[in-house]
Amino acid sequence: MSKDTSPRPAKPKQTSVDVSEAQIAVHWPEEDYVSPPSPFIAQANLADPGIFQRFALDKFPESYKEFADLLDWYKYWDTTFDASNPPFWRWFVGGRINACHNCVDRHLARHKNKTAIHFVPEPESEAVQHLTYQELFVRVNEFAALLREHCGLKAGDRVTLHMPMVAELPLTMLACARLGVIHSQVFSGFSGKACADRIVDSESRLLITMDAYHRAGKLLDHKEKADTAALEAANAGHAVEKVLIWQRYPGKHSSPTPLVQGRDLVVNDLLPKFRGQRVEPVPMPAEAPLFLMYTSGTTGKPKGCQHSIGGYLAYVTWTSKNIQDIHPEDVYWCMADIGWITGHSYIVYGPLALAASSVVYEGVPNHPDAGRPWRIAEALDVNIFHTSPTAIRALRRDGPDEPAKYHYRFKHMTTVGEPIEPAVWKWYYNMVGKGQAVIVDTWWQTENGGFLCSTVPALHKMKPGSAGPGIPGIHPVIYDDEGKELAMGSGKAGNICIRNPWPGAFQTIWKDPDRYVRQYYKRYCRDPKSRDWRDWPYFAGDGAVQAADGYYRILGRIDDVINVAGHRLGTKEIESAALLVADVVEAAVVPVADEIKGKVPDLYVALKPGLAPSAAIGDKISASVVSEIGAIARPRRVIIVPDMPKTRSGKIMRRVLAAISNRQDPGDVSTLANPEVVEKIKSLAG
Ligand code: PRX
Repeated sequence: MSKDTSPRPAKPKQTSVDVSEAQIAVHWPEEDYVSPPSPFIAQANLADPGIFQRFALDKFPESYKEFADLLDWYKYWDTTFDASNPPFWRWFVGGRINACHNCVDRHLARHKNKTAIHFVPEPESEAVQHLTYQELFVRVNEFAALLREHCGLKAGDRVTLHMPMVAELPLTMLACARLGVIHSQVFSGFSGKACADRIVDSESRLLITMDAYHRAGKLLDHKEKADTAALEAANAGHAVEKVLIWQRYPGKHSSPTPLVQGRDLVVNDLLPKFRGQRVEPVPMPAEAPLFLMYTSGTTGKPKGCQHSIGGYLAYVTWTSKNIQDIHPEDVYWCMADIGWITGHSYIVYGPLALAASSVVYEGVPNHPDAGRPWRIAEALDVNIFHTSPTAIRALRRDGPDEPAKYHYRFKHMTTVGEPIEPAVWKWYYNMVGKGQAVIVDTWWQTENGGFLCSTVPALHKMKPGSAGPGIPGIHPVIYDDEGKELAMGSGKAGNICIRNPWPGAFQTIWKDPDRYVRQYYKRYCRDPKSRDWRDWPYFAGDGAVQAADGYYRILGRIDDVINVAGHRLGTKEIESAALLVADVVEAAVVPVADEIKGKVPDLYVALKPGLAPSAAIGDKISASVVSEIGAIARPRRVIIVPDMPKTRSGKIMRRVLAAISNRQDPGDVSTLANPEVVEKIKSLAG
């Protein structure tokens, strides 16, 4: 926009969505309130109702000083909020800070012998590792020394991590943060190819990985993916110079894939050289990037959301303290993966900034049985638990009575990532929480850094199936398609936006500022020339309704993104992977409601003329999706159709396909160019 001077890529074709998650959202009636338990309120960090006044819109932006004051600063900032170049907001300008210092060093005086990370291996026979703050400090320093001395990394460099859920992952992130190096962690379940795309986009010279890890009872070869990633990056013209490999079992190579001489370095072999070394944390500008987190968008490849050091850390620390209610003596378990934003904010940075003990669990929740999480909770005395509706549904299905068998006591529980059905919420509350834990349903996104909507646990009543109002400092609004504001509490569905900027919001899309503006701010911008933040509401891409009490209910994505088990997948990414199979001429992905995962993708394909449909072709297409993106994107079904339902102008009618997959009425199809194909597709998809 007016102040953006960076080079502009050619304008990509705007895609239109003719079916969205929000349209096939699960609807349920409004539920009755549930009050937070009084023992929770008595100990809560935030129980002062004056908070809403302090964070009223007219107190913006200085109200956010309270967030940043939770951190240690080398140099205090001069300007809390700089809006001179909308929507490229800058927070705590002039401040100098280091995220690693705030998560590790500053706790040593009072908490050095306290556990920072409980690492729980998936095999139950393996001992839990308890890493104290002092041990974390020592190991982060040694690894930071290795990165600096051996690999020549310096502030501003990007490094891609493709690591599983092990203690070495937060350790690696913190070592990067100590040096001012920007980390880009890729979910370990993603394929080598998906990792390569992120390496290339972020121009990482270094890939940090692990040889193997346990998942669902198997020791997976993970090193293999690093070779694919390096090869694919090279094919795209980008050289990965070094691959750093942590050993899952120090001293032993646990992968059948051999090392590549001259490129691969085994971290555990090199570390002894750096024993006892100390690396001073680099005082970084508050607005320097801390990390990139790639996420799916409406078009093309995933985009790198760039998060700042000062604003992001302030935001996750405040929300961890006041919405998660973390006290230093708490044992906190967020059963997400650090490869997603939830793990960055609420396994690593938020809890560690508050000197809590954070649990890192390697494996799947219901392995070897659905009692596993509750055994872990009992053994480690976990009192704050955080997970997704998908995990809750699976644990409820596989072991509805398991929680009662274990003696743990949660004071607080979180649900995040998808809408939660009231029946599932109630099982979570009654069985998992034993009726004693408060629940927060937190709505937010990769782009946001931390929670946007949630009840404040000691101040609001809970309402099953509703996220809640904006958290203190966040002022949501719902617009209709024409840009008209829906009245507060109208109960009508529209597009949820946030009126004001906040410190946790991403700064831009890595190397694509134009897309950042276009995708998140253009839609409801009142005046592109305005430097007033009030003219630039943030457009989230979710449908929502607000009830009369101010609570928001999130309906789902209104764009080409499907939320599968709480993870975002671009329909375009899956379709492109299908089109790589030479037999395929057209592909269309639609979201289908799923009892456990919320939504899953159905993939419709049309083959080249003359090719007969076969199970083998379907398998090949499915395999292409898995190797391009990862197993998480595997379509529920590949349905080979004789032709796609199309408008007269040749546009694929995904709405019709979605209706068929969701066993809904496809409506009037007589205006299609080929209405007769609908019945054929119905019988194939039946
Ligand atoms: O559709 C919303 C859904 O997840 C999307 C964001 O996904 P991601 O960036 O991967 O981040 C997930 C975890 C922060 C949103 O656009 N979503 C997230 N939380 C909720 C939700 N839908 C309903 N209720 C929630 N609590």
